[in-house]
Amino acid sequence: MTVAQQQQLIEAALAVRQQAHAPYSKFLVGAALLDDQGAIHIGCNVENASYGLTICAERVAIGAAVAAGRRRFVAIAIAADPAVSPCGACRQVLAEFAPNLPVLLVDANTSSLVKETTMAELLPLRFEFRS
Ligand code: THU
Repeated sequence: MTVAQQQQLIEAALAVRQQAHAPYSKFLVGAALLDDQGAIHIGCNVENASYGLTICAERVAIGAAVAAGRRRFVAIAIAADPAVSPCGACRQVLAEFAPNLPVLLVDANTSSLVKETTMAELLPLRFEFRS
């Protein structure tokens, strides 16, 4: 990933965060996933009156990417105020496709990258289905 691509990814996460449907928590999250062909797939959190049906920004982004036919990823940026690390459910879903994915945590208040980590660091010993 080039510096320009990283900046584009961060900006995409910040922009899609504005689309979040979060009337209950009021906590807006944006996620942007860069694929191996250079395309960016985006997602925001979508809450529901039945709270447990809420879907996180990260899983919306991965669903959009898979629906677009992309399954190989270079990095994900996640933007929130303050910056957050993906929840356990999203870690498992991201690790399905990209167990070593670089993860950029972005503070939406300052539009800055506050931490860079990886899926391997966030979810060691992930569940893998072996039949
Ligand atoms: N949320 C995300 O979209 N991604 C995360 O990484 C953490 C949490 C959402 C779910 C819910 O809409 C709101 O943030 C508060 O939990």
